[in-house]
Amino acid sequence: MRSIRLPLKKGVGVLNIAHRGARAFAPENTLVAFEKAKCLGSQMFEIDVRLSKDGALVVHHDETLSRCTDVQTKFPRRDSYDVWDFTVDELMQLDAGSWYIKQLMLPSLQRQAFLQTLTEEEAREFVTIQARDVFASGNIKIPTLKQTLEFAVAADMMVNIELKPQPGKQEDLVAEVVKLVEWMRMEHKILISSFDHHLLRELRQLNKTIAIGVLTSQSIMNLNEYLESLDADAYHPAGYSDGDVKGLQKLKLNEFAVTLEAGWPVNVWTCNNKEDIRQLVTCGVSGVISDFPNRVKEVIDEFIS
Ligand code: G3P
Ligand code: MG
Repeated sequence: MRSIRLPLKKGVGVLNIAHRGARAFAPENTLVAFEKAKCLGSQMFEIDVRLSKDGALVVHHDETLSRCTDVQTKFPRRDSYDVWDFTVDELMQLDAGSWYIKQLMLPSLQRQAFLQTLTEEEAREFVTIQARDVFASGNIKIPTLKQTLEFAVAADMMVNIELKPQPGKQEDLVAEVVKLVEWMRMEHKILISSFDHHLLRELRQLNKTIAIGVLTSQSIMNLNEYLESLDADAYHPAGYSDGDVKGLQKLKLNEFAVTLEAGWPVNVWTCNNKEDIRQLVTCGVSGVISDFPNRVKEVIDEFIS
């Protein structure tokens, strides 16, 4: 039997992993999105981690700050709006919540893709009037990784840390993340993934106990051997579905089945369509990474009842 590190050991059921927090119901990659993930039944949330100009670990998906903050208003006339061109103090001045409310007020088809399938019922039920006020207040900030992990401890949640590209500073990123996770003694609660598999190799050199997820949007030849060679704990392939794709391809499901058969946990991203989630759970995946943890929970509950 393959030995898999915590938090992916077998027997915990299908992990409901909230993508960037419960991204459909709160501004992504912020503490309120992680809180929402907890409320919606996720045991784990996924986040994207980068370094600021002065070397702080911060949680933000895009390379630039423009989509999810008011950076251009607060810092007009800057040459670059990339995260790594801002100090952590500057990042903390940004409003990382109002953009989400502006999106919510648009007609569905004009919103960003992940929000286009949000139903009126879901919006009413899961984004209350009070929550909308908080998100639009200007007080929602980009969290540091430390604040995020402190939240996870308090909420008793696991975290999937995705390492994002950091030109020229890749090694610092890995080393700093490992240092923080070890210092907080959270090794057993953390799963680290990245599209950059060199980073995962580096991580394994530094730490033997943190679980690794091999993130990819492509097919990998000799997958089982490849996962083995990285001393990985899970495969994180792209599924489909933002509502505009007709379902998981049979080919993909077969690939997942073979990987699962070989004893590897498989956590698929980013699945928002309930029929796709049903197929994945039937296929036996270990986790589903979704913008809509409520839908994942509903599907998992169907299998339990
Ligand atoms: O970790 C799964 C997923 O987050 C990878 O893609 O672009 O959403 O970070 P992205
Ligand atoms: Mg990510």
